[in-house]
Amino acid sequence: MRVFLAGATGAVGRLLVPELVAAGHQVTGLIRRPEAASGLRSQGADSVLADVYDASAVAAAVAAAAPDVVMHQLTDLANQNYAGNMEIRRTGTRNLVDAAAAAGVRKVIAQSIAWAYAPTDDVPATPAATAPGPAPASAPATTTTTPAPAPATEQDPLDLRAEGARRQTVAAVGALEDIVAEAPEWVVLRYGLFYGPGTWYAKGGLMDDAVRAGKVVPNADVTSFLHIEDAATAAVQALEWPTGPVNIVDDEPAAGTAWVPTFARSVGAPEPEPVDSERTPWARGADNHYARKHLKWTPRYPSWRDGFVA
Ligand SMILES: NC(=O)c1ccc[n+]([C@@H]2O[C@H](COP(=O)([O-])OP(=O)(O)OC[C@H]3O[C@@H](n4cnc5c(N)ncnc54)[C@H](OP(=O)(O)O)[C@@H]3O)[C@@H](O)[C@H]2O)c1
Repeated sequence: MRVFLAGATGAVGRLLVPELVAAGHQVTGLIRRPEAASGLRSQGADSVLADVYDASAVAAAVAAAAPDVVMHQLTDLANQNYAGNMEIRRTGTRNLVDAAAAAGVRKVIAQSIAWAYAPTDDVPATPAATAPGPAPASAPATTTTTPAPAPATEQDPLDLRAEGARRQTVAAVGALEDIVAEAPEWVVLRYGLFYGPGTWYAKGGLMDDAVRAGKVVPNADVTSFLHIEDAATAAVQALEWPTGPVNIVDDEPAAGTAWVPTFARSVGAPEPEPVDSERTPWARGADNHYARKHLKWTPRYPSWRDGFVA
């Protein structure tokens, strides 16, 4: 297939380009820095120079590439620019999807997140003690007795009624997903929290610094993680997936009381003390049943327990 990839130089894109090329696809990467062209060339991909906020340049780039699929792996997080990230979700997505429509591209695939779901009062099906994998040695007793919340499935609504900053984040995510769904065929990849080389959750990364500074609290909030390699592999497979949103997360949603000490150990930082607190209602992780069972996506790193160490 001919794939137009926006975000080819980002955390996912860097791994995704060689995977797409190895799978026999012809890749054109959207770049906004001329010096990025040689890196893409060495990975076997073409590139085209345009800022995603320049709608006419994006339209011309997509038309010239004449792709089968437009893939959107753009974020604006290198400098933790959360306002910029919301803007790229809205305006960047708008420009890409309009360009795809004008060029007659049938399919759009876009990066979203798996922690924008609304809270639930569902009675949990599985206590944390029976979750896959060994119980963490350092987890407090409360981890084994407090029932785990029901992780979110693709059928659950987004948390559009959230308060404060989360409300703005979820609204921008909802806007991205709505715009992508204008395409005749589309896949929204609701990724878990990335960890691994080149991400915030890696030795030397932003969260390594944060855990050392005591800013990461081992509390009851539940997170679904995803190794960055598994994010890239899912995006390649999504070229063949049917229209819809799909949670791309590992098998083991985890409370902070479990993952924070493990992450701290993996980067050689002191383990923070657990905090006894109520779980934030929306912080319940996500379920990958649809991707695993119906789309046959198999994560290389099924659990952050092994992935953090790897
Ligand atoms: N699900 C998650 O947990 C998640 C998702 C995304 C990111 N993150 C975190 O955020 C960190 C930073 O992400 P990142 O390294 O991918 O960097 P980033 O700054 O978020 O950039 C991502 C991609 O978007 C491109 N881009 C941004 N603005 C653009 C624009 N106006 N026009 C065209 N292209 C544009 C970037 O190009 P340039 O190379 O020119 O900047 C890059 O290819 C990651 O390490 C990761 O930990 C987490």
